[in-house]
Amino acid sequence: MKIYKADDYRGMSRIAANIISAQIILKPDCVLGLATGSTPIGTYEELVERYNKGDLDFSAVTTVNLDEYKGLTKDNDQSYYYFMHHNLFDHVNIPAENINLPDGTEPDSKKECARYEGLIRSLGGADLQLLGLGHNGHIGFNEPADAFDNETHCVDLQESTIEANKRFFASADDVPRQAYTMGIGTIMRAKKILLVASGKDKAEIVKRAFTGPVCPQVPASILQLHPDVTVVVDAEAGSLL
Ligand code: F6R
Repeated sequence: MKIYKADDYRGMSRIAANIISAQIILKPDCVLGLATGSTPIGTYEELVERYNKGDLDFSAVTTVNLDEYKGLTKDNDQSYYYFMHHNLFDHVNIPAENINLPDGTEPDSKKECARYEGLIRSLGGADLQLLGLGHNGHIGFNEPADAFDNETHCVDLQESTIEANKRFFASADDVPRQAYTMGIGTIMRAKKILLVASGKDKAEIVKRAFTGPVCPQVPASILQLHPDVTVVVDAEAGSLL
């Protein structure tokens, strides 16, 4: 595992964008696994800037996103579909048919999870998977548990997650109760993994996940067993390393 410590959020975003850019330049038809959340927004801004300068071409790139709320339509501004279009896809030349997320409007969880897992496999898995890190060590919607989940599955959101997310919705009742997420196995089958973390509030979990024991109670700790992981933190998130 390589760990880069940047001075600040901008520096973290630039290093992460360098790694993603290198992937696209070396393999223009690569499969990128992408994440939502606040941490990668600066990385996506950097990628858009490089695209606008003519340094990056997304025309042959395929993307697979980590997760999506179950029950939200694509035009809901809290859906991850909306987030990804707003922050990246609408600003670069990726063909619409190359963009993949779990379909939050599919009510049949078994069917949708099997479809999405099969799709990722048929693409040969992600060449590079970008991840953020939850305060409790979650990656995707894989929350602390007694065992690691392997494939794409439907999760019941924890009360704490619903509570944390309710500020984005009209009321707590509007927060989705479930989400589709790649499993830990799906993530671990990516050829390369790039995890970004920023801010003081991530320092403790960064230390636990990457220097502590590997256990399903800290889902991200399993990344220690992946052969090609790069962690990029800013000075605050890396302050306890
Ligand atoms: C996003 C995702 C989540 C976030 C994590 C960190 O698709 O699956 O695991 O990466 O919750 O979120 P931020 O970056 O907002 O701190």
